[in-house]
Amino acid sequence: KGHNLTTIDRIANFINDNPNGKIIFMVGAGISTSCGIPDFRSPKTGLYHNLSKLNLPFAEAVFDIDFFKENPKPFYTLAQELYPGKFKPSKFHFLMKLCEDNGHLQRVYTQNIDTLERQAGIEDKYVIEAHGSFASNHCIECNKQFAMEYFKSKVNTKKITKDGVEFEYAKCDSCQGLIKPNIVFFGENLPKFFFETWDKDLELLEEQEKGDDNYLVVVVGTSLAVYPFASLPSEVPNEIDRSLINLEVVGDFKEDPRKNDFFFKGSTDEAAELIAEKLDWVEELQRYSDE
Ligand code: OAD
Ligand code: ZN
Repeated sequence: KGHNLTTIDRIANFINDNPNGKIIFMVGAGISTSCGIPDFRSPKTGLYHNLSKLNLPFAEAVFDIDFFKENPKPFYTLAQELYPGKFKPSKFHFLMKLCEDNGHLQRVYTQNIDTLERQAGIEDKYVIEAHGSFASNHCIECNKQFAMEYFKSKVNTKKITKDGVEFEYAKCDSCQGLIKPNIVFFGENLPKFFFETWDKDLELLEEQEKGDDNYLVVVVGTSLAVYPFASLPSEVPNEIDRSLINLEVVGDFKEDPRKNDFFFKGSTDEAAELIAEKLDWVEELQRYSDE
């Protein structure tokens, strides 16, 4: 518990003591589980554990582009469950929003496709959706771009047959290829702006001299299992302190721990509340959560 408080103190003091201090958040599914969206790899509750009913050859096939070409149904089933619009941001999302409000946000790198960072009101320029989102679509054969509606309408048309739910798949009007949301599948590249923005942010981090305290990296609710996103924390220069807020120690925090790493073992919302208490942000956090 003592060490937990140290991590909370590190983050809260950083904000309190550095009028110009900026935080780079790197987040994953763990910040949205309290919103009712399951994560991927948690035992029992994770999506990959619960995909067995879809008869996948392996769990991650649901996000595999070659598998999708053969059989789009598992992804459609998952999309139906996860489609944005029915979930509310968590306390942690709003804590990041409060960092923005108070001038302490540099960036939110998110692996999540739930768009809850944007729904929390965080301005677009701060949010890097590294794994894309449902906001637009493309044809997987000819790359023609399609508006959100093309896929959405097909996900919502359910035809119940004796074999369960059947979908009418969204197809390209030029080449009849399958249309899929611009979510990054295994075997696909991450968006160019992800790499470009990270290069720019990394330059800023590298400018920080020993003793400066202008930037802090906070990794939250991710197993750091999927590359290249998972390599971001290891690329952070040694001069910059890294904090991890998660139920377990993961990735580079486990494999290559640093003397100046911080770890809060617990729920992301609990961390958000503790940080808010130290900063007198409790009322604002509650107000955002109640809206
Ligand atoms: P994972 O499911 O792999 O990891 C979630 C992490 O969050 C785990 O380490 C959990 O212990 C932790 N966690 C869960 N709930 C938490 C809570 N309330 N408080 C604190 N920690 C909590 O999810 P990601 O790392 O985001 O790809 O997965 C990365 C990528 O794998 C995803 O973006 C997805 C998937 O394939 C796409 O969607 C394209
Ligand atoms: Zn096409």
